[in-house]
Amino acid sequence: MALLVIIGTLVDIIHKKNVKYFFENAKKAKKSATREIGTGERFSIIAKTVVYDIGTTSELGAGKRRAAHLLGMYGTILFWVASVVMIFCYSSSSSTTPVAWPIIWHIGALMTVLGGCWFWFFLRVDVYSEAQPWYRIIKADLFVLALIATSLFGLIWSYLQFLNLNDRWDDKVFLVLYIFSNLALFGGVYWSKFAHMFYKPGAALQKNLAEADGSRDNLPPESDAPEKFGLGIKREAPKHY
Ligand code: HEM
Repeated sequence: MALLVIIGTLVDIIHKKNVKYFFENAKKAKKSATREIGTGERFSIIAKTVVYDIGTTSELGAGKRRAAHLLGMYGTILFWVASVVMIFCYSSSSSTTPVAWPIIWHIGALMTVLGGCWFWFFLRVDVYSEAQPWYRIIKADLFVLALIATSLFGLIWSYLQFLNLNDRWDDKVFLVLYIFSNLALFGGVYWSKFAHMFYKPGAALQKNLAEADGSRDNLPPESDAPEKFGLGIKREAPKHY
């Protein structure tokens, strides 16, 4: 799985040339820097970016979008960490898994299903702002749907294990679905939005450094003129992208 993520992301980087653009842009912006950032300040910018911008996905602002994302993101992290620990530390028949790990695995899966479904059914831009029906599926949904599927099939499979079906035919169906959804999630990195979890932190760090050194990604400084957008701005909360 780790190998699939690395290969998928590298092929994506080569295809999109996004990292090349990112570094060229950062180099260009550096030329318009108005001040030098010291080591201490650089360290505190990195720490703030990790804890605040990445850890709380601040880019999504306050509200439902951020809450749904945090639920899904931390759910996925818990689910993956618990899976790795249980597979690599406690999979032999002689080992006893501490009870905390299956609990973390189930809580993580539940959070991912809730956060993912909240986003997919209600907050997705196609549905929220473009009036598309919730059941319209496009390639861009691959990531969120595969993410929901892995956790949901994992939970159902776990429940069937709990029922002790003794190898009845449906005992294995959800294990097979769980395996296939994981293959789609990790094998689909090149086609899905999986890699945003690496790109977004890089972009947040670059933005914060560019603000601190005055280069502002070559954008003009913020205006200090009064905000005049006309009365229309108050008619509807902004939700068009
Ligand atoms: C384990 C890590 C993560 C998971 C599982 C995750 C999951 C998701 C999912 C399922 C979506 C919806 C994708 C879609 O448009 O179909 C999404 C969107 C997004 N993610 Fe993440 N993400 C993670 C990490 C991050 C990080 C670290 C950041 C930023 C620092 C981030 C920022 C965003 C943003 C800005 C969107 C767009 C949201 C929107 O359109 O409302 N994500 N993420």
